[in-house]
Amino acid sequence: MINAIGVIGAGTMGNGIAQVAARAGLSVVMHDVNDELLRKGMSAIDRSLQRDVEKQRITVEEKRQIVSRITPSTELTDVRNADFVVEAITENIAVKSDLFARLDRIVRDEVILASNTSSISITKLAAATSRADRFIGMHFMNPVPVMRLVEVIRGIATSDETCSTTRELVLAMGKTAIEVNDSPGFVSNRVLMPMINEAIFSLYEGVGSAEAIDQIMKLGMNHPMGPLQLADFIGLDVCLAIMNVLYDGFNDSKYRPCPLLRKYVDAGWLGRKSGKGFYEY
Ligand code: CAA
Repeated sequence: MINAIGVIGAGTMGNGIAQVAARAGLSVVMHDVNDELLRKGMSAIDRSLQRDVEKQRITVEEKRQIVSRITPSTELTDVRNADFVVEAITENIAVKSDLFARLDRIVRDEVILASNTSSISITKLAAATSRADRFIGMHFMNPVPVMRLVEVIRGIATSDETCSTTRELVLAMGKTAIEVNDSPGFVSNRVLMPMINEAIFSLYEGVGSAEAIDQIMKLGMNHPMGPLQLADFIGLDVCLAIMNVLYDGFNDSKYRPCPLLRKYVDAGWLGRKSGKGFYEY
C-alpha cells in the first residue's frame, strides 16, 4: 500500500507530480537542492490549485489540506520513509544515475524507484541501483494536473509486481497508465518529437511561416497546440536532447535534429521558459 511518496525535483514536472499525488491523498516529500527552487515549486502548486478554487472544484479548506500534505525538503534523506519515489530532475544520465545510486541506499528495500525521464534508457538508469527489478519509467505529461496519460516504461529487468504497483499508483492519482517497453524515446517521444522536428524543418526550409505551420496542425488535425508552439512549451533544449537520444539510439539519419533547432538552443532561445523560441513570450 502506497501512502507516502518522494518526489525528487520541484521543477515543472516535479511540482506537478507532487500536486497530483497530494490531491490523491498521499503524503509527499518534495526534494530539491535549494530553498529557492522549493519555494518556486510550492508557489506553482499554489497557483495551480487556486485555479481549481476559483472554478469551485475544490474549497479553500481542501486546497489548504492538499498543500499541507506536501513537505518541501533540501535533504534527500527525508525521503527515507517513502513507499515509492519518483525522480523528475534534469535530463542528464550521469546526474540521474548518481541520484538513483544515492536513493538506492536511502529507501527501504521493497521501495520502487521511478524516473519521469522523457527519453533516457530505463534499463541504464536501473543499472545504477541494486534493485533493477524494482525500477520503472513513469513518464508524466506537461501540464501534469491536466494531462491524463502516464507512460509506464518497463526496463529489461522490471518485474511484473513493480509494473502492477505502479499502474495502481497511476490510477490512484487519477491518471491512465499505458505500458510500453524501454526503447529510445519510448512511444510518446518517438512519435511526437519527429513531428515537431519536421515542423522545424518546414520552417527552416521556408515552406511556411511558424504561424502557418501551427495553424495547419491546429485547424487541420485538431491538435490543441501547433507543433512549434508545443516545442516552445516543452522547451527547445528538451526537444533537442530527445532528438539526440533518438538519433544516437537508432543510428538512423531520419532522426537528425533540424539545424535550426540546434541554432536556437545555442542562442539560448529555449521557448517559453527563456522568453523566446519560435514565438516571443
Ligand atoms: N496547471 C493546471 N491546470 C492547467 C494548467 C496548468 N499548468 N494549464 C492549463 N490548465 C487547465 C486550465 O485551467 C483549463 O481547465 P478547464 O478547461 O478544466 O477549466 C484547461 O487546462 C485548459 O486550459 P486553457 O483554457 O487555459 O488553455 P487551453 O485550452 O489552450 O489548454 C493545454 C492548455 C491543456 C496546455 C492545451 O493547450 C494542451 O493540451 N496542449 C498540449 C499539451 C501537450 O501536448 N502536452 C504534452 C507535452 S509532451 C510532454 O509533456 C512529455 C515530454 O516528454 C516532452
